[in-house]
Amino acid sequence: MAKKRIYLDYASTTPVDPRVFSAIKPYFSVKFGNPSSIHSFGREAGEAVEKARHQAADFFGCDQSEIIFTSGASESNNLAVKGTTIARISHSSQGKTKPHIITTQFEHSCVLASCKKLEQQGMAEVTYLPVGKDGVVKILDVKKSIKKNTALVSVMYANNEIGTIQPIREIGKIIKKENSERGEKIIFHTDAVQAVNYLDCKIDNLGVDLLTASAHKIYGPKGVGLLAVRKNTPMKRIQDGGGQEFGMRAGTLNVAGIVGFGEALEIAEKERPRNFKIVEKLKGHMVGRILEEIQGVKLNGSKTKRLPGIANFTVRDVEGEGLLLGLDLEGIAVSTGSACSAADLRPSHVLAAIGLSEEESHGSLRVSLGKYTTKQEADIFVDTLKKVVDRLRMIAGK
Ligand SMILES: Cc1ncc(COP(=O)(O)O)c(C=O)c1O
Repeated sequence: MAKKRIYLDYASTTPVDPRVFSAIKPYFSVKFGNPSSIHSFGREAGEAVEKARHQAADFFGCDQSEIIFTSGASESNNLAVKGTTIARISHSSQGKTKPHIITTQFEHSCVLASCKKLEQQGMAEVTYLPVGKDGVVKILDVKKSIKKNTALVSVMYANNEIGTIQPIREIGKIIKKENSERGEKIIFHTDAVQAVNYLDCKIDNLGVDLLTASAHKIYGPKGVGLLAVRKNTPMKRIQDGGGQEFGMRAGTLNVAGIVGFGEALEIAEKERPRNFKIVEKLKGHMVGRILEEIQGVKLNGSKTKRLPGIANFTVRDVEGEGLLLGLDLEGIAVSTGSACSAADLRPSHVLAAIGLSEEESHGSLRVSLGKYTTKQEADIFVDTLKKVVDRLRMIAGK
């Protein structure tokens, strides 16, 4: 009989929860209508989308009209960064001054690439804040980098490679105070993709104007995301076409995906305390065993300000790719960086941002647990990791 595989790459994607799957199914078959159609098939699909919008609005503590469904977090982040910058350029009372964006060096590539593109096209100037060894952005650094022309601050809620949690509420307070003293407001965006399973994401509590989320990281389907947009936030659409999503995002809605996202959010909210406790305990057990039983392993990023699910290690004298492939041969799936850069062997920009050398970065491994991970799986993983590390070190003569 084939060996049971073990999945420890939940930060990359998650399996669809069976309850989400059954909610989705009819929208591929009998309820296949286009929500923009006005006949009964369309209305049926439209009602399902509105139910999901309601579930999302409940989750993020906002109005239904403040939820824009997209094709995923990459699109949401593009819209947040580019849409607000373009709006600022067209409304600006600052003449020829470029809008200024503040972000961090370890955002997801879709935020960084959007910022870089705006810079290259001469549309914005960007400050990329350092994050330091603990992988947590300093509130003072945000405060110090605010300028007269600052239009947008975009800081992720939790990092996808090392799991560190950023002080979003505190940054929100700084921006609120700053905004009380200026005409054109600074918009605050957070990429909350990795936080949704575990942390409070009510936009008022966080003090954000824009928040990004993605269904496939929370046991929902792939290819659907959202941007929560607080009312009166200046933002231009970046995708032209139909008037869907309050005119902010053209394209026929992914009805099944959206239904699944709504369901996944409702489940995530209900089960958050349980999942947090279980996954945190399991990760503590796994990390404890690894650090105790394998020589020359270091846990990257803050020990305390981190998500329950993600642990990133540097293992001395081995290559992360070797580890990944060795574990894969044993049926265990982990990652060396974000899935989006899995085909890219350059050292991770996140690990570089927290000060790891190229060599250390190449010896790093991301292990991410989820609500279906068991203690037995965590133990098999640690036992196998020990074996694979020993083997690789022996081959390398270390
Ligand atoms: C923090 C973060 N932002 C954005 C994304 C992109 O999400 P999507 O796959 O929905 O485009 C990811 C996925 O890896 C992520 O972890």
